[in-house]
Amino acid sequence: MAFWHKKQKSAEGESLDLTRLPGHIAIIMDGNGRWAKKRGLPRTAGHAAGAETFRTIAYHCRDLGIPYLTVYAFSTENWKRPVEEVSTIMDLLHKYLLEALEKMERDGFCIKFFGDLSALPLELRDLCLETEQTGAAVSGAKYQINVCLNYGGRDEILRAARTWAQEILAGHQKIEDLTEEVFSRYLDSRGVPDPDLIIRPSGELRLSNFLPWQSAYAEFYFTDVLWPDFSPAVLDTALADFQRRQRRFGGV
Ligand code: IPE
Ligand code: IPE
Ligand code: MG
Repeated sequence: MAFWHKKQKSAEGESLDLTRLPGHIAIIMDGNGRWAKKRGLPRTAGHAAGAETFRTIAYHCRDLGIPYLTVYAFSTENWKRPVEEVSTIMDLLHKYLLEALEKMERDGFCIKFFGDLSALPLELRDLCLETEQTGAAVSGAKYQINVCLNYGGRDEILRAARTWAQEILAGHQKIEDLTEEVFSRYLDSRGVPDPDLIIRPSGELRLSNFLPWQSAYAEFYFTDVLWPDFSPAVLDTALADFQRRQRRFGGV
């Protein structure tokens, strides 16, 4: 655990104000394939390295006291990739979830999933459900990690709209009662505050279907660093950058 004081120089020598950290950081974990290619390794080696980075960054966020971390692990579009690559990613998810399941209680965090889990391999889906259930029972979990798995923002909105429409038909909802707040309760992110900061490494400047509803007023941070090379120091730089911004939410 880092010994953070109220003001702390980050590893990059930037001053972080620990009283003004974002409450929710969301990360598009991108660049695994290019990282591997640069080293003459198969893309799958990049995913293995990226999974290690995920663990490091999750613990760094926890040590900083950031209550919510959301990560994009597998999109609804990623099924287009070669089968071997997809199955390596699924295997890695299985491995890291098993580890997380063991450490949740000790380390005081819980895990939730955003996305349509119904399309996942059965064993992985069961493990996701077990992880969520175990996490929900962790008393005093102060940190929540949301893993976006078979997640697409448009798919999330459509699934929410379908559920809402079914409740209309069943007479449990009224059309005139639909507000942004009500609709949010049908999204995978229900109960989670919107992300304050969205980070995308690897030099791509797009959202790729990540949290379109929730990102309406998020701040964005892009870096050319590839995800497997992303370190706590890079995160601190992003946080220092975030703290120099003025958020207006449409006001003056
Ligand atoms: C992100 O890295 C991981 C997933 C999408 C699952 P990529 O595999 O997209 O890496 P690049 O973008 O090809 O370098
Ligand atoms: C977004 O990255 C999805 C994840 C990181 C899981 P992609 O690599 O799939 O996105 P595109 O294809 O570059 O837009
Ligand atoms: Mg990519």
